[in-house]
Amino acid sequence: MDLVDLRVVRSEEANGGQKEQRMAANSNNDKVFVEDIKDGDRVKTVFLVKSKAVPVSKTGKPYINLTLCDRTGELDAKVWEKAREIDKLFSKNDFVAVEGVANLYQGRLQLRVDGVARVDDAKVNIADFLRVTHADVEAMWQEVLKALKSVRNPDLKKLVSAFVRDEALVKGFKRAPAAKEIHHAFIGGLLEHTLSMIRLAERICQYYPLVDRDLTVVGCFVHDIGKTRELFYERAFDYTDAGRLVGHIVMGVEILGAKAAEAGGVSEAVEMHLKHIILSHHTELEFGSPKRPKTPEALLVGLLDDLDAKMNHWKAIFEREPGDAWTTFQKHYDRYLFKGRPYVPGGPDEETERAGPPGKGDLRYKPFAQMPLLGGKTEGGGR
Ligand SMILES: [Fe+2]
Ligand SMILES: [Fe+2]
Repeated sequence: MDLVDLRVVRSEEANGGQKEQRMAANSNNDKVFVEDIKDGDRVKTVFLVKSKAVPVSKTGKPYINLTLCDRTGELDAKVWEKAREIDKLFSKNDFVAVEGVANLYQGRLQLRVDGVARVDDAKVNIADFLRVTHADVEAMWQEVLKALKSVRNPDLKKLVSAFVRDEALVKGFKRAPAAKEIHHAFIGGLLEHTLSMIRLAERICQYYPLVDRDLTVVGCFVHDIGKTRELFYERAFDYTDAGRLVGHIVMGVEILGAKAAEAGGVSEAVEMHLKHIILSHHTELEFGSPKRPKTPEALLVGLLDDLDAKMNHWKAIFEREPGDAWTTFQKHYDRYLFKGRPYVPGGPDEETERAGPPGKGDLRYKPFAQMPLLGGKTEGGGR
């Protein structure tokens, strides 16, 4: 078990001053996760520093305002004593061993920190701090490759090879989250989201001959490719400077243009249609798309993007709030979500059926059960 020295700065009011103490905290093996921390708990564990600021209180005294996180959530934290000195010990995106007491403040848990020390990156298990797909990244990537290899259009084939040959781009594509928060906000999320859309597209294209299957599959593949550069995902997810200033839609079009130039000889029409898919995939101007979908392929990619993002987000909300049939109010959707399953006579819910049919006005429900979004051998991955 790795032990990390934790320099504790504690308020020694009885002595009328500050005194430094040393103590040891487990760096990782006894990781206490944010989701398990309750009001009144004394906490001693390692977190990732998501944000750090040193404002000044109303009394003129500086303090440190922290957002600490791990893969299960975030926790507000405050360092009230020796803020200036402690501030120098660590930075945003560092790992820190922290000791303190969690208290409810205005309905939110807040940690009053009275001990903190930076922890070396090599001593932590990164999977404890960043959410990672539950699915097998390599298996997902092979499935994406298989779908791309089935593309017959020669221009699209050339383009796809230029993308797949770019090792740095592929590395980012396999690792990036699909969003900073909301949907597929975990390492491998972009790949999982893209694969999910490709799977859906392959089925739906069989149903609507109006839609060009090759263009749609490649369109799904590239629709969010700009996320590989829009987001920072080596530590707590955030936007890159270019991500904030340019954004993944324009970045995606730029990447596509570069790959088309690299591939050489790609028809302008094919490149333009793919660019249109990227530019319109948020479907409405107010959702950030400079163009609304004007081709069946762009319409389908935009709808699948929205469908897959929402399904994944709802699953994450349901998992975060087990228990009651209703979720808390979801501001993002301006509604409560229902996660119970109503009694369906003859349905698959054996336990509910054994209990007999519901009485009048009695909506019996089973709490939401965790279920994979991706089926087959790469199943899993809602977080
Ligand atoms: Fe997008
Ligand atoms: Fe997307």
